[in-house]
Amino acid sequence: MFELYLDTANVQEIARLDAAMPVFGVTTNPSILAKEGKGLAEVLPAIKDVLGEQARFHVQTVSTTTEGMVEEAIQISQLPYDIVVKIPTTEIGLAAMKQLKSKNISILATAIYSAQQGFIAALCGADYLAPYVNRIDVLGANSVNVVSDLQLLIKQQNLSCKLLPASFKNTRQVMDILRLGVDSITLSTDIAAQMMAHPSVQPAVDVFTNDWQGAFAGKLAYQS
Ligand code: E4P
Repeated sequence: MFELYLDTANVQEIARLDAAMPVFGVTTNPSILAKEGKGLAEVLPAIKDVLGEQARFHVQTVSTTTEGMVEEAIQISQLPYDIVVKIPTTEIGLAAMKQLKSKNISILATAIYSAQQGFIAALCGADYLAPYVNRIDVLGANSVNVVSDLQLLIKQQNLSCKLLPASFKNTRQVMDILRLGVDSITLSTDIAAQMMAHPSVQPAVDVFTNDWQGAFAGKLAYQS
């Protein structure tokens, strides 16, 4: 089943978008929570109220040592939610992933900028890989190549991790990545809204409304 996440901690925006699309869960990072000015204790229950019991949360550690990340990941994973712990894919983060693998904690390797970096995270036991699509592109590399290389390596080595590309800044990037057949994506609220929108849609609907009112003023379709 495809997993569509929102990359936000804004509860109102999550409620608005979940009403119109099947939101599987939410991804957060320290910058997202800092922007809302709210911690996990406030944000997670409020989002669960909106999305329901089955919502999955990807929550990032903020520790700067391997030992700190492992301890923080253990604590985060014990929160009463469907939690995947996000670990930055640095050398110390990879060391934490290796240790967490044996503790049966779900891990997302975040801040992936290259296929080789993501491949090592997959070998360390990450359950999800989050390549940063727009950040890769603005550095002059090609996010589609990074994601398709990761798909190839995961398949060749029969690894079980999923791809969860993140950091999209336009819908073309989203479509380029979806076309590869990834398992999941996470979208900012702006980009999620743009996925539903097209400037021609409302004018087309307005014509239908005007034509209908001209012929059947005040009646609904089943009353005509
Ligand atoms: C998700 O896991 C990342 O934290 C996030 O998508 C980064 O996106 P940005 O490049 O928009 O900050």
